[in-house]
Amino acid sequence: METVGDLRRTHGCGELCVDHIGENVVLMGWVKRQRDHGGVIFFDLRDRTGIVQVVLSPDESGDVFAKGETARAEYVVAVRGEVRRRPPGTENPKMATGEIEVVAKELRILNTVRSLPFYPDEAESVDEALRLRYRYLDLRRPKYWEIFAMRHRAAQEIRNFLTRKGFLEIETPMLTRSTPEGARDYLVPSRIYPGRFYALPQSPQLFKQILMVAGFERYFQFARCFRDEDLRADRQPEFTQLDLEMSFISEEELFALVEEMLADLFSQVLEKNVKTPFPRLKYREALDRYGTDKPDTRIGMEITNVSALVAESSCKIFAQTVQKGGVVKGIRVPEGATFSRRVLDELSRLAVDWGARGLAWFVLGGEEVKSPLAKLFTAQEMEALITAMGGKPGDLLLFVADKDEVAGPVLANLRLELARRLQLAKPEDFSFVWITEFPLLEYNEDEKRWEAVHHPFTAPYEEDIGFLETAPEKVRARAYDLILNGTEIGGGSIRNYRRDLQEKIFRIIGLPEEEAQEKFGFLLEALDCGAPPHGGIAFGFDRLLMLMLGRETIRDVIAFPKTQSATCLLTQAPASVTPRQLEELHISILERAEQKSPR
Ligand code: AMO
Repeated sequence: METVGDLRRTHGCGELCVDHIGENVVLMGWVKRQRDHGGVIFFDLRDRTGIVQVVLSPDESGDVFAKGETARAEYVVAVRGEVRRRPPGTENPKMATGEIEVVAKELRILNTVRSLPFYPDEAESVDEALRLRYRYLDLRRPKYWEIFAMRHRAAQEIRNFLTRKGFLEIETPMLTRSTPEGARDYLVPSRIYPGRFYALPQSPQLFKQILMVAGFERYFQFARCFRDEDLRADRQPEFTQLDLEMSFISEEELFALVEEMLADLFSQVLEKNVKTPFPRLKYREALDRYGTDKPDTRIGMEITNVSALVAESSCKIFAQTVQKGGVVKGIRVPEGATFSRRVLDELSRLAVDWGARGLAWFVLGGEEVKSPLAKLFTAQEMEALITAMGGKPGDLLLFVADKDEVAGPVLANLRLELARRLQLAKPEDFSFVWITEFPLLEYNEDEKRWEAVHHPFTAPYEEDIGFLETAPEKVRARAYDLILNGTEIGGGSIRNYRRDLQEKIFRIIGLPEEEAQEKFGFLLEALDCGAPPHGGIAFGFDRLLMLMLGRETIRDVIAFPKTQSATCLLTQAPASVTPRQLEELHISILERAEQKSPR
């Protein structure tokens, strides 16, 4: 055990129990809180193993007693004392060490505290900005010990699993060239080459493919990735991917390996059984049934398309939407008939906020249907609509009549909102689903060009290659995402390993040959030097942990996260640098006003 001066630590606070009664121990840690109970002083002592109660009494602690009074909250102390059973009636069943206490015989104050912006105990009620500024105080909470112990165990478990499967963990560079994953790059200026920049990797994509060309066959890495993009609760500018790549692999083999890895992880770390194989949904089917390619499959309420049914109905709002090329789609909320008018109005307002023109609701009573639109339908039409939706008395039916691009996402959001209100999705239930057969390319209206949906290194289905030049929208990608409880935790693909096909895709996404050569010449050259067929996947490790731990933001599972505006409040990064550093880097800063101008 550790020593400070002549004191040798014998135990961790949380390790003590009735077995230690009568033993002399030396503990070191932080004073949690001090209480004076009629001349006897108690404090909880905290270290990384847990908490134990320390008692200082005038009779038993002698001259130490006087010092005890000065040991304030968050002081760092060493205590020498004897473990004893707590007097009957004073046990604390909420504490792991609640049956015992340590009677101090010696107390050394190793460090004091001047004044704290907040105490770890009260952090829950403190503004997040202040907690991030003093992250070390926030991190003193036992909850973080659990989170980071679990993060460590998860990484360890994955490393062991992949090692057993013949993978090598290989590091790839941080100072590199741009790797396109759809975000802006973080750039690092070169001092030696004026006007040139390294890019921090958005992912190790190209290096892992090149490792396949090199013949490693099975690679993985816990890789730090950097993306300058809009931040959300599940996005950070730098985050950790569990990145994999394999040679001579098919989708089926990759799915099986990933499923086994996750089942192993969940059972070892959470003691949860995960059912494999995971269900799969084609991209188009996911949009049709859930309105999104990231469906939360813990929730039912799938979408039904009633466009054909209402196209000729006497309800003009519905009929005309379909006649103009739109759709009418709805969801059935089981037992939603109990919703008050106020709730229905709130849901309608939300639907409008999300871009719909409105939300049509039908409350199914025993005999009658309540809805502002009810009288616009004939009795048979209403009957047919209810049957199509599988509606039962007591249900609520919600419809959006709009363009498909609007109706799908609005209903997708509604499902989530309803699940939240009705508490349909428990964080401790884990529902995985693979999304497959994404389109390879999508048309960017602003830039008037096709672009890769995943990234340009993704292979098309062999049988769709013929459409690449004639009907690019029809080409399906050999790409897959893994969704857990409505969050994308991973994505990957089988890659282009033949140079001619890769060059063709660069051409189609409007990358002129010269530029393709300039940016990705090294990859094209490698593909020409004996590249095996290969594919892989990357998981957002922080996101996965966030979901495993039932947290709402990835900031909770990252020791030093950045704010939503990409700053580090602890170190105050990004920071200005000296004129001399700028000069060395051949950089001059435009005036602030100029910087902010939209140019
Ligand atoms: P992709 O861009 O889908 O694929 O990223 C893989 C996974 O990384 C996580 N992720 C993020 N997590 C936190 N903050 C972010 N800003 C962030 N961005 C992405 C997501 C996502 O599913 N090279 C490919 C993988 C491959 O093809 O093998 C890639 O990076 O969970």
